[in-house]
This record gives sequence, structure tokens and C-alpha cells, in this order.
Amino acid sequence: MIPPKRPRGGAAHVTAPRPQGKDPSLRRSLALFRAFLHEQDDPESCYSLLARDAADQVEAYDGPVAGRTVVDVGGGSGYFTEEFRRRGAHAFLFEPDMAELGEKPPDSAVVADGYLLPLRDGVADVTFSSNVLEHVADPETFLSELARVTRPGGLIYVSFTNWLSPWGGHEWAPWHYFGAERARARYLRRTGRPAKHTLGENLFAVHIGSTLRQVRARDDVTVVSARSRYWPFLAEAVVKAPVLREFATWNLLLILRRCPT
Ligand SMILES: C[S@@+](CC[C@H](N)C(=O)[O-])C[C@H]1O[C@@H](n2cnc3c(N)ncnc32)[C@H](O)[C@@H]1O
Repeated sequence: MIPPKRPRGGAAHVTAPRPQGKDPSLRRSLALFRAFLHEQDDPESCYSLLARDAADQVEAYDGPVAGRTVVDVGGGSGYFTEEFRRRGAHAFLFEPDMAELGEKPPDSAVVADGYLLPLRDGVADVTFSSNVLEHVADPETFLSELARVTRPGGLIYVSFTNWLSPWGGHEWAPWHYFGAERARARYLRRTGRPAKHTLGENLFAVHIGSTLRQVRARDDVTVVSARSRYWPFLAEAVVKAPVLREFATWNLLLILRRCPT
């Protein structure tokens, strides 16, 4: 679970360089990496930085979000929604799990499943989903729903940690390379706590190659970019290398554009 946010205004922000355009810098990747290392002891800084970085990525592809409607699907406790709002967007959080929403979700957060969003067709200028795809059993249906609620010409931001990424096993990574059950058992032994994720229940083995093939075969979206979300260089090149990409991409970012109907 993403730790709940501190009360508004109490955030201790990490200062991070803003990525320049579509090819972010090594400084930016290092700042993200350092923040991830402190995810457990300083989640506020980590997720605030990640949210600013993701909003920068959206704006690098689609221009300022101010005045636009942004739909954040599976947004946890709302760091991303709040960052989009800070930038002037009409941003809305849809999250199915009350525990993930925490005690201080953004105003007007909606408890809703990404498979069936309570939204009319084409309402969103930007549909945003960060690190959710690997948590749904049917990614194709999930993507169809993201496309449905996005207006023709609108942007869809989807990122996920693929199974063979060094972080693919989440809290039991990198031991997932030796099998999910063994990795879960090891986590329990080491921490004394049951792992949050169980393969086939709330974590699924999503692969980059098959996901790209599925997305490219769709007629409701075009692929603007398929790249590593965090890498400072070769971010698009690594995704073009079969086999290697499954291990080296770490987290795949798909920037999709909704086709005209
Ligand atoms: C790893 S968290 C990611 C949260 C946040 N988007 C981020 O990037 O930090 C995965 C989120 O996906 C949500 N989720 C799982 N199944 C979902 C579904 N069918 N529809 C929408 N969200 C879902 C979970 O409740 C959880 O909040």
C-alpha cells in the first residue's frame, strides 16, 4: 500500500531537476533513484517527486495540463491527482481500494474500478494510470476502458513494472526470479509479515513484448512512445530489443493517443 499523505502543507519536498523535454537527464534519474531508496522512511518526498516527474512527462508530450480534465485511474492516495491540480488541471482520482485511498484522499475522490469507470465516453483530455496495469488480471479490458473515457486526440499515460524487471516481484524482488511462491515465503521468513502481493491475485506477470503487440494491434489508440519510464538515456532504444527489454526497461511507459472515432 502506498503510505498515506501527510496533512496538506506539511510536505518535505525533495528538490529535483525538472526533466528537459522528452529525454530526461541523468540528474533526474538519480534523484528518482535516491527517492526510491527512501520510499519506506520518507514516502511523502518519494511520491511527491514521482508525481511531479510524471506530470512533467505528461506535459512534455501534451503541453500544460492547466484547464484540462485529467483522470487518474488507480491513483492510490492521490499524489498524482494533487500534482495535476496544483498545475491547474481538473483532475479526478478513481481508486477501487479504500485502504489505498487512505485517510486524506483528494477532494471528490471516487471509489471505482478501472474496468468500469463511472464516466461518459471521451470526457478526459488526459487519462493517467501509473503502476496499475501489473495489478489487474485483464490488462486489455483495463486499457479499453482508459481509451473509452479519453476524448479523440487525447493522451493516455500508462506505466507498469513488468514481471522480469528487477523490481517485477515488488516487495519480494529480486527473488521472484527464483519463483513467486519461494520469494513470498522468503519475504515472510525475513520480515515476519505476509507479503502484500500474491502472484495471480493482485500482481500479474505482465511482459513488455506481449503488451506492445496487444497495444499496437488496437484500433482505438496509436502508440506515441514506448520507453523506459526512469532511464536517462536509451529509454526508447531499450524497449526495441526483444528479451533484453524484459530485464532492462525496469518500468515501461506507454504514451498513447486516442484515435478519432
Ligand atoms: C502500486 S499502486 C499504484 C498507485 C499509484 N498510481 C502510483 O503510481 O503510485 C497500484 C494501484 O492500482 C490499484 N488497482 C488495482 N486494481 C485496480 C483496478 N481494477 N482498477 C483501478 N485501480 C486498480 C490499486 O488499488 C492500487 O492503488
